[in-house]
Amino acid sequence: MNEASTIRFLTAGLFICIFTNLITNSMTKPIQGFSKLTKEEKIDRIVSNYTHDAEYAKIILKRYWNDDKALQKLHDEFIENTISNYYLPLGIAPNFLINNKLYAIPMAIEESSVVAAASKAAKFWLERGGFKTTVLGTEKIGQVHFMFSGDLNKLKTFFDFVKPKLRSEASDITRNMHKRGGGISKIELRDKTTELDNYYQLHCTFETLDAMGANFINSCLEQFAKTFKQEAQTFSDFSESEKNIEIVMSILSNYVPNCLVRAEVSCPVDELTDADTNATEFAKKMIQAIAIAKAEPHRAVTHNKGIMNGVDAVILATGNDFRAVEAGVHAYAAKDGKYTSLTDASIEDGIFKFWIEIPLALGTVGGLTSLHPLVKLALEILQKPSAQELMQIVAVAGLAQNFAAVRSLITTGIQEGHMKMHLLNILNQLGATEKEKTTLTNHFKKNTATHSSVVEAFENLRSK
Ligand code: MEV
Repeated sequence: MNEASTIRFLTAGLFICIFTNLITNSMTKPIQGFSKLTKEEKIDRIVSNYTHDAEYAKIILKRYWNDDKALQKLHDEFIENTISNYYLPLGIAPNFLINNKLYAIPMAIEESSVVAAASKAAKFWLERGGFKTTVLGTEKIGQVHFMFSGDLNKLKTFFDFVKPKLRSEASDITRNMHKRGGGISKIELRDKTTELDNYYQLHCTFETLDAMGANFINSCLEQFAKTFKQEAQTFSDFSESEKNIEIVMSILSNYVPNCLVRAEVSCPVDELTDADTNATEFAKKMIQAIAIAKAEPHRAVTHNKGIMNGVDAVILATGNDFRAVEAGVHAYAAKDGKYTSLTDASIEDGIFKFWIEIPLALGTVGGLTSLHPLVKLALEILQKPSAQELMQIVAVAGLAQNFAAVRSLITTGIQEGHMKMHLLNILNQLGATEKEKTTLTNHFKKNTATHSSVVEAFENLRSK
């Protein structure tokens, strides 16, 4: 390298360093007062510091705004620091016969083939008597976690003394719920000191009717904690140190094993077929597949993931909290000390039975249900269900999804159906025109779609 090119090389290196430093610095520096910026300012800050093409990014963000200003404001105010909307497709799986009533189930989900699979399972069982469901319980749970170092018997006496006060001092919070037939069901003192030194709980159960009840429960618990602590300070049996009960936290539990719903389908084994499968063989393999999911946690997780494809999609469409449901459902799947399948199947006296029991704490009032226009619509499509009805519909969506997935797995394999549905995504990624999409969709009706076969077929078509 001669002297001139060495200087050019070093100068270029220096510029690259400065530029990279500038970018890195702006990305690694904390953003002060972000929440106080206007939406436009937030967008400017983010796109100019974190994206490659600020103009393009800005256009995208704005394209996803709603022209209806009031509607956009509504969405902006659901959360904090909003810069745009994030769309998910809303699909409908029709023909679900549940306890002799027909439903079209709205599903919000990004994964191709979920809605198609649900629809196919719904149609299959529509012709075989449909789904039967029962709500096994609606109990919600919340806990006040506290530390107490002292005499357990005195704590028990104090608890008996304070219990009526816990209820009465929460009466402002519970009045309306009480009028509608819900409220605080039980308050128990639980000794958890074998698990953690000095640790106790007020373990409380609630009936929240058509509300998911998170705010109601948390408000009650925080009031319980306040009353509990205050009353302890003047409880004469307690020593000075015992009076100082330490409240750690008050919060509902998303583990709700007694907020449980069962959904079931059944039919004679020889009706368990359509054109392409042998009924007895299919029933046998179905039982084996479920047995594997019951026995083996790796398979159980994927098996249950398939169930959650259906469950979450309805939960999202109806404005419920899918994180709460996910956490509770998986804890339930491990309730006996080992993670296992949520569904079960049997063959008795020539009858194939397939069922699910799943904990679902859901609401059809409160939260987003009366705010988000698509949630309102989804609930209307479901004929304005009560929370208990929604539990049954969601459980059915999970069972149907699992039936469809396992059915594919033990017959054609999952990829055939999945890739057919995913085909459009690949063609869109490749930038196919509408005409090319039609030609290739027709082509893959008769041919196996894999990512590479789609790319190859697309390239062949383009080169013609
Ligand atoms: C994919 O989203 C879900 C499945 O993996 C479920 C299953 O394996 O049962 C197909």
